[in-house]
Amino acid sequence: MRTQVVIIGSGPSGLLLGQLLAKAGVETTILEQKSKDYVLGRIRAGVLEQGAVGLLEEAGAATRLHSEGLVHEGIEIAFDGARHRVDFKALTGKTVTVYGQTEVTRDLMDARAAIGAPTVYEALDVTLSDLESERPKVRYVEDGKDCEIECDYVAGCDGFHGVGRRSIPETVLRTYERVYPFGWLGVLVEKPPIAHELIYINHARGFALCSMRSTTRSRYYLQCRLDERVEEWSDDRFWEELTRRLDPEIARSLQTGPSIEKSIAPLRSFVAEPMRFGRLFLAGDAAHIVPPTGAKGLNLAASDVAYLSRALIERYSVGSLEGLDGYPKKALARIWKAERFSWWMTQMLHRFPESSGFDQKMQTAELDYLFSSKAAQTALTENYVGLPY
Ligand code: APR
Ligand code: PHB
Repeated sequence: MRTQVVIIGSGPSGLLLGQLLAKAGVETTILEQKSKDYVLGRIRAGVLEQGAVGLLEEAGAATRLHSEGLVHEGIEIAFDGARHRVDFKALTGKTVTVYGQTEVTRDLMDARAAIGAPTVYEALDVTLSDLESERPKVRYVEDGKDCEIECDYVAGCDGFHGVGRRSIPETVLRTYERVYPFGWLGVLVEKPPIAHELIYINHARGFALCSMRSTTRSRYYLQCRLDERVEEWSDDRFWEELTRRLDPEIARSLQTGPSIEKSIAPLRSFVAEPMRFGRLFLAGDAAHIVPPTGAKGLNLAASDVAYLSRALIERYSVGSLEGLDGYPKKALARIWKAERFSWWMTQMLHRFPESSGFDQKMQTAELDYLFSSKAAQTALTENYVGLPY
């Protein structure tokens, strides 16, 4: 078997890349180790920058996003008994769209099926070889049979635990990491959201976030300890703790109900450089992780894919390698800025177990400054709505 680009992973990165390449006439095969239902069962964040929305339009997968997505013109930050609004629209003229990553994935899968591009689900034991040659090979097992595809390029869109990054020799790969001393306990519930916009809460008992997926489905998070187990959190306990972290006025609007999903996720900042080895290119979570405060994960995957798709299309349309050679530097410049923003939001909004009196004073000063300064709110907004590609 032969194709032009083998894409490993059918998460948002791989699917979006496949769609943008297909539109330009570049042939791809996607290899995904899990089943389609498994991929669609993952619940993740749901805030899209305008740039990501634009790419989904380009990919021909934005119809439902435009009819069902909720346009948000700002967020609220609650601290010390008061709520402060950051008005994105007034500060930068830009907005974000609330639309779940699961729905983005589903729309991209449907778009891929509509053009008849191949995806192999349950492709097991994927291995990459000859990456430094002109004919990379990708081997995998499908229905118990050994298969091999020869290609021009491999795109490692296979997430943090994928085979892409692991195929880069240790002597070439550099990694940078921060692991945070807490996690997020998330609950999804079939009830209208507590408010029209997202509320980020810095409370003495820990961070909380009130988010949503639609006008009838809400997503809530609580900062929790890393050693806590989800079984220890009954729905009642979750709602009780969330209520304690909300100010009494807004708490009255909280509509609780049985959770339809509940999970704990650790928080991590991680970057692997240089995102390329020979003819292998990494994109999305395969190369970097951000803590979810600020909702940059999916958006960063989208900007990587914007750069990588343009570079590959340039290679096939005019034969130029310039875009591919420049991909790591261009992508990493934006990635590090999103890493900084996500780290800053995390630092500002959570309660750190080891924090000293000085650290706490610094956090309070940071928030006071943000609430009082249009310049500081503009800086937050520029990053939240997305830096330019
Ligand atoms: N072989 C084939 N597929 C693999 C392999 C492998 N060895 N390892 C992982 N995969 C698949 C996973 O099953 C998953 O479906 O690659 C896909 C990677 O998808 P994501 O983890 O969603 O990563 P990405 O597409 O880069 O999306 C980034 O996802 O985790 C969130 O916050 C993150 O929103 C961001 C987005
Ligand atoms: C979510 O809705 O899951 C969400 C929203 C905003 C964030 C993180 C997660 O910053």
